[in-house]
Amino acid sequence: MTCLPDRQGDFTVVLGITGGIAAYKAVEVARRLIDKGIVVLPVMTDEAAQFIPPLTLSALCSEPVQSSLFGSPDPIPHTRLARRADVIAIVPATANFIAKLACGIADDLLSTTVLASKAPIIVCAAMHTEMWENAAVVQNVKVLQSRGIHVIPPDEGRLAGGDSGVGRLATVDAIVEHIESLAGAIEGGSHDVARDLVGYKVLVTAGGTREPIDAVRVITNRSSGRQGYAVATNAYLRGAEVTMVTTVDGVAPPDVQRVFVDTAAEMERETLKYSATADIIVMAAAVADFRPIAQSNTKLHRSGGTLQLQLEPTSDILARLAKERTPDQVIVGFAAEIGLDEESARNKLVAKGVDIIVLNDITLPQAGFDSPNNEVVILGSNGARLKVPLSSKDAVASVIMDTALERLKDTDR
Ligand code: CTP
Repeated sequence: MTCLPDRQGDFTVVLGITGGIAAYKAVEVARRLIDKGIVVLPVMTDEAAQFIPPLTLSALCSEPVQSSLFGSPDPIPHTRLARRADVIAIVPATANFIAKLACGIADDLLSTTVLASKAPIIVCAAMHTEMWENAAVVQNVKVLQSRGIHVIPPDEGRLAGGDSGVGRLATVDAIVEHIESLAGAIEGGSHDVARDLVGYKVLVTAGGTREPIDAVRVITNRSSGRQGYAVATNAYLRGAEVTMVTTVDGVAPPDVQRVFVDTAAEMERETLKYSATADIIVMAAAVADFRPIAQSNTKLHRSGGTLQLQLEPTSDILARLAKERTPDQVIVGFAAEIGLDEESARNKLVAKGVDIIVLNDITLPQAGFDSPNNEVVILGSNGARLKVPLSSKDAVASVIMDTALERLKDTDR
């Protein structure tokens, strides 16, 4: 079926509110998204209207609240909402609504909109601890996750009725950050995000390592970690279980597990903890090739003369991962070069024994280190070559993951 696009350019979130005590927090989420220039279309269930007056959201949001499939001037409000949505966020999602999503029940405007949409869905669960831990809810949450729906689990804290425990809606900050990270990835990549990585584990490294010279000084590089974060977010959006080993704190969906490290040795140690179970490994980090042999615990003081630093090589993590790989893994490395030097990148691909190498020219002023954009050539050990012209790092990430998935499927066979 061909659907007419209803997008009007601005990033649009359908904000679904279901009937829980945390419904009032959706007002703050709406306000924060609107402040960021995001179009917010509120949809409330009848139960949500028991907790907050629809007028509050109507006054705040880009359009009046909608609640019913019937009686609206639009004869088919659910499909129109579904197609306009870049993201659907359910804040809060009750146990009942989660169950409805898991079963595909479409008996009100919100559940029908979710079913009719291809947009990424974020479900922010909030309920009493006993309900969250109930086997039926646990099972339903797993079903949603297996379909690539992003479930933001509840926090621990005070609950309705004076109780406390796990069940409290995640913080407004966390919810807004999650929506924002999806917004960045979707606007930079493609609107229709395929859920083709569900069931796969992806390990991504990001950022430049820092090798201490003394208590205050380090040897590092200009890597911002943005390309690694873009890869991790893309993999996550497509349904993968993602772990990052990173030296930098960028914007990532909360469900991406992040392990923070500083040095090449720490990055190696942490990466090896997760590498054996990963289906795809993307070494986007700019790992130092050398580190000072001796590190002073105090601050080295100026002594008038010159200072000689003796450096020793670090271990090549990528080469080690490739050497210790399982047969069905896909390993992706980067080659930071002066100019798009394909010969040098191919040599790296062969020397390190990886499946794919992403060559980028670190001298381009409009791409590479510290830039939101990149221009790369993706080379495969099977002879494949794909040039990605200057694009956002999110768009480049999407092509890298497409290429890795293709290789993974070849490996499966
Ligand atoms: N890499 C690594 N461990 C290192 C150095 C690099 O795992 N100690 C990885 C990087 O994450 C990247 C790839 O190897 O995926 C290539 O990094 P690059 O800096 O381009 O090449 P090097 O191997 O460091 O070689 P050179 O600096 O001589 O170009």
